[in-house]
Amino acid sequence: MNMLIFKCLQMAVLLVFSGRYTIAEKKTQHPKKTYIVHMDKFNMPASFDDHIQWYDSSLKSVTDTAEMLYTYKHVAHGFSARLTAEEADLLTKQPGILSIVPEVRYELHTTRTPEFLGLEKTTAFLVSSGKQSEVIVGVIDTGVWPELKSFGDTGLGPVRSSWKGECETGKNFNSSNCNKKLVGARFFAKGYEAAFGPIDEKAESKSPRDDDGHGSHTSTTAAGSAVAGASLFGFASGTAKGMATQARVAAYKACWLGGCFTTDIVAAIDKAIEDGVNILSMSLGGGLTDYYKDSVAMGTFAATEHGILVSSSAGNGGPSQASLANVAPWITTVGAGTIDRDFPAYITLGNGKRYNGVSLYNGKLPPDSLLPLVYAANVSLNSDSSDNLCTTDSLIPSKVSGKIVICDRGGNPRAEKSLVVKRAGGIGMILANNEDYGEELVADSYLLPAAALGEKASSEVKKYVSSTRNPTAKIAFGGTQLQVQPSPVVAAFSSRGPNILTPKILKPDLIAPGVNILAGWTGKVGPSGLSVDTRHVSFNIISGTSMSCPHVSGLAALLKGAHPEWSPAAIRSALMTTSYRTYKNGQTIKDIATGIPATPFDYGAGHVDPVAALDPGLLYDTTTDDYLSFLCALNYTSFQIKLVARREFTCDKRIKYRVEDLNYPSFAVQFVSASGGSHKPSTVQYKRILTNVGTSSTYKVSVSSQSPLIKIVVEPQTLSFKTLYEKKSYTVTFTSNSMSSGTTSFAHLEWSDGKHKVTSPIAFSWT
Ligand SMILES: *[C@@H]1O[C@H](CO)[C@@H](O)[C@H](O)[C@H]1NC(C)=O
Ligand SMILES: *[C@@H]1O[C@H](CO)[C@@H](O)[C@H](O)[C@H]1NC(C)=O
Ligand SMILES: *[C@@H]1O[C@H](CO)[C@@H](O)[C@H](O)[C@H]1NC(C)=O
Repeated sequence: MNMLIFKCLQMAVLLVFSGRYTIAEKKTQHPKKTYIVHMDKFNMPASFDDHIQWYDSSLKSVTDTAEMLYTYKHVAHGFSARLTAEEADLLTKQPGILSIVPEVRYELHTTRTPEFLGLEKTTAFLVSSGKQSEVIVGVIDTGVWPELKSFGDTGLGPVRSSWKGECETGKNFNSSNCNKKLVGARFFAKGYEAAFGPIDEKAESKSPRDDDGHGSHTSTTAAGSAVAGASLFGFASGTAKGMATQARVAAYKACWLGGCFTTDIVAAIDKAIEDGVNILSMSLGGGLTDYYKDSVAMGTFAATEHGILVSSSAGNGGPSQASLANVAPWITTVGAGTIDRDFPAYITLGNGKRYNGVSLYNGKLPPDSLLPLVYAANVSLNSDSSDNLCTTDSLIPSKVSGKIVICDRGGNPRAEKSLVVKRAGGIGMILANNEDYGEELVADSYLLPAAALGEKASSEVKKYVSSTRNPTAKIAFGGTQLQVQPSPVVAAFSSRGPNILTPKILKPDLIAPGVNILAGWTGKVGPSGLSVDTRHVSFNIISGTSMSCPHVSGLAALLKGAHPEWSPAAIRSALMTTSYRTYKNGQTIKDIATGIPATPFDYGAGHVDPVAALDPGLLYDTTTDDYLSFLCALNYTSFQIKLVARREFTCDKRIKYRVEDLNYPSFAVQFVSASGGSHKPSTVQYKRILTNVGTSSTYKVSVSSQSPLIKIVVEPQTLSFKTLYEKKSYTVTFTSNSMSSGTTSFAHLEWSDGKHKVTSPIAFSWT
């Protein structure tokens, strides 16, 4: 299995998460692993009246000792259990077993946002707030800190009667921790404990309580209540609130200090479906593999089929290309951008040059005088390749004491670097970006005076240090700055396309705020997430596609409240076709990693614009049948389709299924580059169906393309809609001459009736 380990370095929480608590796998003679066992429920022998009995009997036929961890009802027909490789092998040969999938470990992809998104300017969502309060957002994460004011339920009426969720009791958590805002809280630890042994209750609560901070942050971002006077040490002060303040939150804790296991994640999805959530927010990711081998892809298929919109983080693998997670076409995949808020800090060098950086440091100020400046690589014990990173115990105290140390970004958590410098006697730190991070500045609550600098400034500062006899510097801090431009820019860490699993589906779908986001935090650890950090905060500022995902989850809840009849695909379509790709001055949104205009491989359809999404005019809707046709287009066998969709389904031999025909709101077009100098143009045709959700109106199509070498023909060019939900189809034909392999080009296709603009991105690539 191809584990896609996200470049965690950029994401405070994830690092914290893996750094704080290391657990070794138990060693036994015949090592066991956890597997998810998929059973052919439609072919249960008549001798059983109950499928769980049947599952149990199948398991017992190969082992006396293995216990079922979970049985799954909705996301799969089957169960999970811990087995040796031999037992798993034997079980595969039993009748009725479809497939045995080894468990995968997932990781978390770790308030000014409502204003930034224009939600303050509109009353449009208030009109329908009665329905908004019926929407329940399930968050699969590290749990919640229920005492946060963001979980206050003032003004909320009773929960809708169809809700079946519960508040489970466990360490430091019982039913009285839930209320009319936090309407459900469950935990899923069986897979985690099977892998690592019983949970150490001194380190973490075996309950829905959040000992990490990540889950409190994501769930309050999606649907936290408004809290006046929120800030982190005075930074980003104002009213903090989630995207959908009237919607309810249900926490499904499947992520623990040692990670999240697919057995637990899938059990959480199973329960969330049964409880009746409307939106599922999942800021986590693991392996990228075929959908029929990917337990989370299968689980989210079931959720979507039940009308639940699944919003997932795109991953923090950027700016590398093809670094996406969660690419299944039934998932809404969210990348990250910046907002217009900054936390400036200033570095002044002995030569008088001043550089702007960022910081969330709030402790005792450093002396307002120039201090000796050193580069970590020159003052480390080891001379290996990572001695510039300020890893634990790497610095020589006698060479660091009383000085400001330049540490390179990457490797260990950013806040941890500040701890390493502090412990070695340093009195300040400059966190230096390399070209991977470009000019992206992520703010952290460092444990000593410190500032992060972009790549250009960092290399100048390092040049100064290496060319000066007694280099010096000082650090100063500038609080919170608003209306920073340009914003948004695509975050360097945000995972990029193309989608290597299904190249004809463009991912990510869109971007949302994910850099320096203020939201609720756990009472268990301080804002840096380091165990030595004893500061307690109700709000923290962190970054990651983990943070952009719950923005979209909350906005989807707003749309669901306004349009309860819309399907998950309809909501996603509205969010995508109304998103924007340019600043007010008409220039394209920038990529902070490169400083040049970003492309649909970075931002998908663009940056989310919730107010426009409320009234999209037309939708690209997609049903479960469409996804089945999509699986046929992938040439999946009936057996593989049964795994993903839990049904007997045979692709019709007479139909020519094509991925190009999945009714997706964006286009990814692959041309084959001719070998041997052939110049024959190649042509591909895509089909789409639009559904009217506005009044009677006539739409005209327009196309804007970067390249005059690609011909784009839409047929018909005009579509007239008379009634609500009326459907009309069109085809778009792309013709291009051969380009060299690896070339990309972009275009947009827009339907407009003068009032609405229904815009789709087109990404061309030549393989
Ligand atoms: C829940 O826990 C709190 C604090 O420990 C306790 O006061 C309360 O009685 C408990 N409630 C229930 C329903 O068990
Ligand atoms: C400091 O480290 C840099 C980069 O490794 C190197 O180029 C430079 O020569 C070193 N300076 C000293 C004084 O060791
Ligand atoms: C499925 O099989 C057909 C016929 O062999 C082929 O043309 C097509 O490219 C295949 N599709 C995929 C996604 O592999």
